[in-house]
Amino acid sequence: MTPVLDLVAGARPNFMKLAPVVRGLVAHGGIDVRIVHTGQHYDPSMNDVFFDELGIPAPDVHLDVGSGTHGVQTARILERYEAHLIERRPSGTVVFGDVNSTVACALAAVKLGVPVAHVEAGLRSFDRSMPEEINRILTDAVADLLLVSEPSGLTNLRNEGVDEARIRLVGNVMIDTLFSNLDSARARRVPGRLGLEERRYGFVTLHRPSNVDDGETLARLLHLLRDLTRRLPLVFAIHPRTVAAARRMGLGELVAEGQADFICLGPQPYLDTLSLVSGAAVVLTDSGGLQEETSVLGVPCLTLRENTERPVTLTLGTSRLVGNASSRITAAFDDVLDGRWRRGQPIPLWDGQAGLRVAGELSAWVRQPRVVEAPA
Ligand code: UD1
Repeated sequence: MTPVLDLVAGARPNFMKLAPVVRGLVAHGGIDVRIVHTGQHYDPSMNDVFFDELGIPAPDVHLDVGSGTHGVQTARILERYEAHLIERRPSGTVVFGDVNSTVACALAAVKLGVPVAHVEAGLRSFDRSMPEEINRILTDAVADLLLVSEPSGLTNLRNEGVDEARIRLVGNVMIDTLFSNLDSARARRVPGRLGLEERRYGFVTLHRPSNVDDGETLARLLHLLRDLTRRLPLVFAIHPRTVAAARRMGLGELVAEGQADFICLGPQPYLDTLSLVSGAAVVLTDSGGLQEETSVLGVPCLTLRENTERPVTLTLGTSRLVGNASSRITAAFDDVLDGRWRRGQPIPLWDGQAGLRVAGELSAWVRQPRVVEAPA
């Protein structure tokens, strides 16, 4: 019988990782793919547009969980994915990244004896105040196959005593998506349409709780962006979470579209984001994915965090940790404008072929004889 793999996606950063794995599995053949969408992200701008642009087949299963506190969101996914597993048990479940959907589906599957593979395993920020760090640790603890994107992932898993037989270094699937879409993204000429010149603007995203959930920090960062944009025009693609936080704190006018300072846009489609990032002089962000994408594109990246689970972007890439203190951000911004920035080197296995390697590993793994059976 043909093995069936559930591929789970829920939030925006999952979609760019899932697309090349689906393509790889289809090219490889011999496995039926079932796409399970948890509905963690549901706005068309955070969801449908990515499926369309990346050519991902429509999900076979929708769990429609929507937003909620971490407990509520995770519990809803766990409950609904478990019901699906009981009804339509797959040969294995593949989860991506570190969002709530990742840990919830991994847990539901493993409790029913369905083996789990984790794409982007082993990353650690060593900062347990980040929800994603908890999701990463728990997912890796229960996953059977750990597919790692960068060397630090191998070291972390070995340090945690994980059996070598469960680990594979496969590279970064998200970079496959970047390479296959770069030409069409550039052809969209988004900077020009916004009246900006190549390398004469900066691109900004901020959504992490550490930067946006505290009113004082968010206000300070928004005022800082207003100062910086006078030296280099900034485009801010704002996550709904950040808009909601700003409004809650009475800062709504600072992030309103059409305000006079930086250019304020809602969440951008993948191709428009890539067009903006690839033409930028600098990116200011707290996103994990953008640290990786800027590293490959050779664009300086000010990472507004104190730590990263993606250290290769600091050693070989173009990212520098600048925290969220105004003085450090400004000093790093000056360094970029004065040309004092590392250019970045190629990162091993971030070569556009990671989806194929993942498909090869999944194909061998799903056919392994197993001793674990579903509990009675
Ligand atoms: C989630 C991930 C984060 C990832 C980010 C990318 C977790 C713990 N966090 O954070 O790692 O970097 O996605 O976007 O899984 N909202 C909408 N529309 C949507 C989705 C969310 O308006 O389609 C708003 C809601 O107000 C919601 C808030 O954003 O409460 C937060 O959404 P949630 O999915 O909880 O986490 P993100 O901040 O998006």
